[in-house]
Amino acid sequence: MARITLRGVGHTYTQSAHESAWALNPLDLVWEDGRTYALLGPSGCGKTTMLNVISGLVRPTRGRVLFDQRDVTDLPTAGRNIAQVFQFPVIYGAMSVYDNLAFPLVCRKWPRPRIARKVAEIAEVLDLQRELGRPARALTAAEKQLISLGRGLVREDVAALLMDEPLTVIDPQFKFLLRRKIKEITERFRLTVVYVTHDQNEAMTFADEVVVMSEGRVVQRGSPEELFEYPRTTYVGYFIGSPAMNLFPASIDGDGLVFGGTKLRSSYDPVRLPAGRIEVGVRPEYLELTTEPGENTLAARVTGILDQGSVRVIALEVAGHPAKASVARGRKLPAGDVLVRLPPEKIRVFVDGALAEVRP
Ligand SMILES: Nc1ncnc2c1ncn2[C@@H]1O[C@H](COP(=O)(O)OP(=O)(O)OP(=O)(O)O)[C@@H](O)[C@H]1O
Ligand SMILES: [Mg+2]
Repeated sequence: MARITLRGVGHTYTQSAHESAWALNPLDLVWEDGRTYALLGPSGCGKTTMLNVISGLVRPTRGRVLFDQRDVTDLPTAGRNIAQVFQFPVIYGAMSVYDNLAFPLVCRKWPRPRIARKVAEIAEVLDLQRELGRPARALTAAEKQLISLGRGLVREDVAALLMDEPLTVIDPQFKFLLRRKIKEITERFRLTVVYVTHDQNEAMTFADEVVVMSEGRVVQRGSPEELFEYPRTTYVGYFIGSPAMNLFPASIDGDGLVFGGTKLRSSYDPVRLPAGRIEVGVRPEYLELTTEPGENTLAARVTGILDQGSVRVIALEVAGHPAKASVARGRKLPAGDVLVRLPPEKIRVFVDGALAEVRP
């Protein structure tokens, strides 16, 4: 496995554009050896471009790509020893599963007994032992993706496993299974993994670290917990989490933060906030429904209830603003008019869209 370093890497598909409009703005980024990363962002933000720069499918307009100490910028994909899984399975349908898995090794002219041993080992990991003799086209889409993955894993010393939305064509009921299998494999082989997705739920459950992109830039990277608790921008607060973080307009009155005419206690010292447009963010999971008036509590109206399996999402109107609260399914909801409480320690303050710092 390798530690992958992007040094001043940027890419544009059209030479004329200014750097700030490039598909990938020049950046420095390190992918640590043996960690699993999710590369997350909306369509067109540059995820595939980033992945292809790492794999060598795209030569960056600027900057260098390093695998450990080795500069691989000028090496084609074949010279980088990486395993790749794309949206659509890349397999030879007419060939048997065995031959599909053996193919990269046959190309490397491995002796046949060694190939047989390696294929047997990988087939066991993938749970495809019983399918080895079947033509690959006869398998399900999920199994075909496992073959794509297996063809990368059979090689020795794979530098990294790169996956670009590998679950796109998988039936919903198999998505969970395939994701779990991929996770099991990446842990067992201690692979350096970059997994592209636009599904935040997938990113948050799969990765050690999530790299969030927007318009050709990395806007935040961190553990799923960090992104959930401390989104550095309202964009990340909105993009991560389901439902998105609640954002309420606030102002400063004397030494206090005020929203909807209510003074809010929080971990922030409002006097020390930079000048700008203030928003108060609270995750739906932390917004409390109550009947007891008290600190940080505002009147609210329930406008809808959405069942989401283990939780219910309560749509609310708080001081004229829409909001959402996630409530555990078994919990009794207060009847009639409700109050919502914004727990002081769960309040995040954003100024002009950027998370304000809490200073001692
Ligand atoms: N081969 C290409 N030629 C010209 N422009 C391209 C090419 N590939 C991508 N782009 C542009 O570069 C930007 C980033 O595209 P990219 O495919 O990296 O985004 P993405 O995050 O992978 O999107 P998606 O989620 O839709 O796959 C987009 O504006 C896209 O239109
Ligand atoms: Mg893409």
